[in-house]
Amino acid sequence: MKISIIGTGYVGLTTGTCFAEVGHHVVCVDNNAEKVAMLRNGKIPIYEPKLEELIIKNVNAGRLSFTTSTEEGVAHGEVVMIAVPTPPQPDGSVDLSFIEKVAREIAESFTENTGYRVIVDKSTVPVKTGQKVAETVRRYAPANAEFGVCSNPEFLREGCAVDDLLNPDRIVIGTNDDKATALMQQVYAPFIAPVVVTDVESAELIKHAANSFLALKISYINAVGRICEKSGADIEKVAEGIGMDKRIGRSFLNAGLGYGGSCFPKDIKAFISISESLGYPFELLKQVEQINEDQLSLFLGKIREKLWVLQEKKIAVWGLAFKQNTDDVRESVALKLIKQMLNEGAAITAWDPEAIETCKRFGNFEGANLSYAEDKYACLDDAEALVIATEWPDFANADFAEIKKRMKTPLIFDGRNLLTPETASSQGIEYYSVGRPTIQPS
Ligand SMILES: NC(=O)c1ccc[n+]([C@@H]2O[C@H](COP(=O)([O-])OP(=O)(O)OC[C@H]3O[C@@H](n4cnc5c(N)ncnc54)[C@H](O)[C@@H]3O)[C@@H](O)[C@H]2O)c1
Repeated sequence: MKISIIGTGYVGLTTGTCFAEVGHHVVCVDNNAEKVAMLRNGKIPIYEPKLEELIIKNVNAGRLSFTTSTEEGVAHGEVVMIAVPTPPQPDGSVDLSFIEKVAREIAESFTENTGYRVIVDKSTVPVKTGQKVAETVRRYAPANAEFGVCSNPEFLREGCAVDDLLNPDRIVIGTNDDKATALMQQVYAPFIAPVVVTDVESAELIKHAANSFLALKISYINAVGRICEKSGADIEKVAEGIGMDKRIGRSFLNAGLGYGGSCFPKDIKAFISISESLGYPFELLKQVEQINEDQLSLFLGKIREKLWVLQEKKIAVWGLAFKQNTDDVRESVALKLIKQMLNEGAAITAWDPEAIETCKRFGNFEGANLSYAEDKYACLDDAEALVIATEWPDFANADFAEIKKRMKTPLIFDGRNLLTPETASSQGIEYYSVGRPTIQPS
């Protein structure tokens, strides 16, 4: 099939590439000319495992190309997907100006020769956005333009986006148009996954409800972690015991610094705002947010309690990305933590396997007392504390003897529970984590 994707970011690029991988002919459109030029030159603007090889393979096979022209996209794809940002506004509601602009651009790209098009919203949007997209396209497109509107939310996780896209848990197709349903079923025919066909509004709601539920699981386990800390229980054991219940499941029950990233914080805010505007104040989700915010403050409290004052303290930080296996630092809790410690006068040296460059570009740390290390051990030289802020698997394989040798004082604050208190203490390292008993170093 011929598919076009407007917006070639994390979602557009990975989705477009995976559609090409299963045999579709895909044109990815982006209005960032620099990004399109990079991609045309075989350079990949993001780090995502397995993505680069698939892009090269499918570009060489003639199934994947890049352009800045929405007209070209609309001329090419019988299915035109929108994958542009939907950032939060200061009041938590969604800024839909990118979606509205693309809807207009798609409408204005229709010509007399353009056949039927399915206009698919892949961005995460508030319920009823599909109606607005349909109205907008109808208003700006030629009177005889034929199109259907569909909501097809994306559930990929950064860090394993290619695997998620090629083997999705489910595919949601939300449309009230039979022709659009048939075409979307063709798009997803090569994928082995259950398909949920719904109206547009239900599909839109599924995405916000799913992300909010996952955030709820994270805040729930963090709240239980607080009770563990107060009672001497171990959150890792508690999570294991809860998670083996098939009705609950183990995933997203990892106590730590809480959720961040480009999706959860904004999507939870959006769902609260949408619910409020529909007349339902979603108090449960407000608590989810509050627990998440408090989680960072509580962790900082632990650091302050041990270091007393942070002024002039040299602190090593492992992790900048908002999660493992990505270079994405948007709404990264690690960066928030670093900012707080810098504000209190600490000198930070940071290490991340992939996100140093994105942190330099987007972290807003110009002039700050922040330097970047060559590797995870060099980061520790003369440090008075190590803070583990991102759950990179490599951090779990720490050589404690090397850590002790490098640090000025062997003190670890593990915000992701990657190391074990028993091992750290047996190596003579003072170690604090989240929701687990503290064992004094032997
Ligand atoms: N990142 C994720 O893990 C993820 C997962 C599921 C859903 N989503 C949702 O998908 C949407 C996109 O997220 P993302 O992370 O890919 O964003 P992104 O910022 O990485 O990419 C968006 C791209 O759209 C381009 N763009 C903006 N306006 C455009 C226009 N008028 N024409 C053409 N291109 C335009 C930008 O240049 C950018 O490259 C959001 O709604 C997000 O909530 C994201």
